[in-house]
Amino acid sequence: MSTVVLIGAQWGDEGKGKVTDFLAQRADLVARYQGGNNAGHTVVVEDREFKLHLIPSGILYPDKICIIGSGVVIDPEVLLRELESLEKQGISTANLKISERAHIIFPYHQKLDFVEEERKGKNKIGTTCRGIGPAYMDKSARVGIRMIDLVDPDEFKSLLERNLEGKNHLLTRVYNNEALDFNRVWETYVRYAASLKGYLADTSLIINEAIKQGQSILFEGAQGTMLDLDHGTYPYVTSSHPVAGAACIGAGIGPTCIDWVIGVAKAYTTRVGGGPFPTELKDDTGAYIRKHGGEFGTTTGRPRRCGWFDGVVGRYSGRINGLHCFAVTKLDVLSGLEKVKICTGYGYRGDIIKDFPANHKVLRECIPVYEELPGWQEDISGCREFSELPYNARRYLERISEVTEVPIGLVGVGSRRSQTIISDDFSEVMDR
Ligand code: GDP
Ligand code: IMO
Ligand code: MG
Repeated sequence: MSTVVLIGAQWGDEGKGKVTDFLAQRADLVARYQGGNNAGHTVVVEDREFKLHLIPSGILYPDKICIIGSGVVIDPEVLLRELESLEKQGISTANLKISERAHIIFPYHQKLDFVEEERKGKNKIGTTCRGIGPAYMDKSARVGIRMIDLVDPDEFKSLLERNLEGKNHLLTRVYNNEALDFNRVWETYVRYAASLKGYLADTSLIINEAIKQGQSILFEGAQGTMLDLDHGTYPYVTSSHPVAGAACIGAGIGPTCIDWVIGVAKAYTTRVGGGPFPTELKDDTGAYIRKHGGEFGTTTGRPRRCGWFDGVVGRYSGRINGLHCFAVTKLDVLSGLEKVKICTGYGYRGDIIKDFPANHKVLRECIPVYEELPGWQEDISGCREFSELPYNARRYLERISEVTEVPIGLVGVGSRRSQTIISDDFSEVMDR
């Protein structure tokens, strides 16, 4: 395997953790490059389930270097809890490196996330309230605090003083909320600094050295293309760039270093939180998919909105990310349905739209045009080859590929590492 970027091709929760874990077998280094602990990646290895929010899914292999890149925003409390939980489960975290340039989430970010959502009322985004948006806002406003600042007591003190003064002003005067106590935040974060200092590194340097040596690198995206700040359903998006291009910025590599881009897409569609979702099913079929797919958020436990596979989104994602192939997950969840549907376009005022529109008013009027295909009744969770899949399941995958113009390299038929089908073409590329 060479240098691979793996991204979410829909609205997140596509199964990136599972596919990362599967592909990490062939990698030397696995890196996260954006997002924060709004992400929740569930990985099932044999009978053990791991829920990762910040640490790359490659951590489950003892010999892989794992990196949290500069584009990630870090909540130190969550990170330390995750480290502790992994160690308790016998997973070594000795190979984890954290970018000195990564920005930090503070309690005022979480508070501001929450009060701003409350203020928005029915127009709220439905964020995870983990402080992600406010932390990226500070980064863009050039007042954020980075890991390297945290471990320098004098620098940290003056930055925190300046930040907290401004944030307390905002919290008390604008949001009519309580101020945060400087000493409490300071003491807590100084403790975090002591625990995390040993993990800090110039991670871009490590990754670029590994590339020079011809090692295999896997970049694990968080969230999904339709939650991207530029290319998603703005403003119902996250505050980072889940698209493939962001791997360059958030990991500190040049675009020339990327060999391969994989988009992870569910065999249907889900979304958590507010915002447009053209193929959403608010009926029994939606409830069936939610139940059979266990579609409840890893991070917040919220029920996920469910719907048919959206080929317009898939094609758009292929374009925005320059996808070489899809890893289609959760095909097993659709087993048992009489009919399955793929959205091939949106009907809009007598026309058919094939390219995902930016305009919410247009989106609201869009009516998905569906192609109906026969379902399959067989249990496919034991299939390990394309040829073992029922004809109708293969036909369904073929149509997804034709509609989206993206080949299918991998298929998930269960949550376990082994429940993965890999195409011959894809296997050949990954073995190079
Ligand atoms: P991520 O955020 O993209 O990593 O996805 P999540 O972990 O939030 O959600 C995906 C869920 O689907 C997890 O519970 C996975 O264990 C599970 N999963 C992944 N791939 C498959 C698959 O092919 N079949 C089934 N049944 N479950 C899967
Ligand atoms: P993974 O990596 C699904 C959604 C939230 C909300 C919007 C903004 O597990 O796929 P934020 O807290 O980021 O400001 O919330 O983005 N969201 C996700 N949805 N999977 C995720 O991550 C998500 N991370 C954020 O539900 O609608
Ligand atoms: Mg998730």
